[in-house]
Amino acid sequence: MRKKLLDKVGNDKDLTERQKRQFEDAREQLEGRLTEYRLLHSISVSDTAVSMARRYGVDEHDARMAGLLHDWDKNLSDEELLLRACEYDIKLSEHHEDMAALLHAQTGAVAVHRQFPELSDAVIQAIARHTSAAEDMSELDIIIYVADMLEPLRTQGNLVPLRQLAGKVELEELFLRCYEATMRHLINRHRFIHPDSLKVWNTYVAKERNTRPSKKQNGLRDMQIQA
Ligand SMILES: [Fe+2]
Ligand SMILES: [Fe+2]
Repeated sequence: MRKKLLDKVGNDKDLTERQKRQFEDAREQLEGRLTEYRLLHSISVSDTAVSMARRYGVDEHDARMAGLLHDWDKNLSDEELLLRACEYDIKLSEHHEDMAALLHAQTGAVAVHRQFPELSDAVIQAIARHTSAAEDMSELDIIIYVADMLEPLRTQGNLVPLRQLAGKVELEELFLRCYEATMRHLINRHRFIHPDSLKVWNTYVAKERNTRPSKKQNGLRDMQIQA
C-alpha cells in the first residue's frame, strides 16, 4: 500500500496532460515539505477524495489537488505558523491551544494559493476548512474534511462504521457523523472545543432535524429525558 502510494504520480488514465503535470509538480514540491508519513497521508487523502468526488458528482481534479495539498503547512512549528499567520494577516483566535492543529489549514491555504495560482477558489477554501470546518461547507469542503479523517492509512479509533457510510448517505449526513466522532474524541480526551466548532455542530444538527422529521422527534425525546 505504502509503495503503491509513493509510486503514484497522477497516473489516473482520465487525467489530462495538464492535470497530470499539476499533480506531479505539487507532489514533488510536497516531498520537500513533508515527512514521508505525512506525504503518504496526503496522497491517500487525495485518492480517497477522488473516489468520494466520483460517487457524489463533485469535480474530481479539485478533490485530487485539495486532498494532496491540504497539509501543505503541517510540518511547520507553532512559531513558524504564528509568523506565517502574521505575514498573511490571518486573524488569530484567542484560544491558542491546538494552534498547530488548526492554523496549518489557514496558512496552508494562503501559501498554496500563492504557489499554485491556477487552482480554483473552491480548492483553496477546502484546504482552509479542513481542520475546523465551517457552518456553510461546500460539497468539496466536506469531501476533504471527511477524506482527511477516513483515508485508509489512518488506524486510530474505529473508523470502519464511518467508512462504510461513505457513498451510501448524503454528504451532509456523512459530514455530521464524522464531526460527531471528532467532538466525541475531543470530549473523551478533555480537550478544548473551539466556540466556532460548537457553532458548526449546532448548525448541522439543526439542519438535520429540519430535513428529517424522525430525527426531530428523537431530539424532542432527548430533551424530555434531560428535563
Ligand atoms: Fe491537516
Ligand atoms: Fe491531514
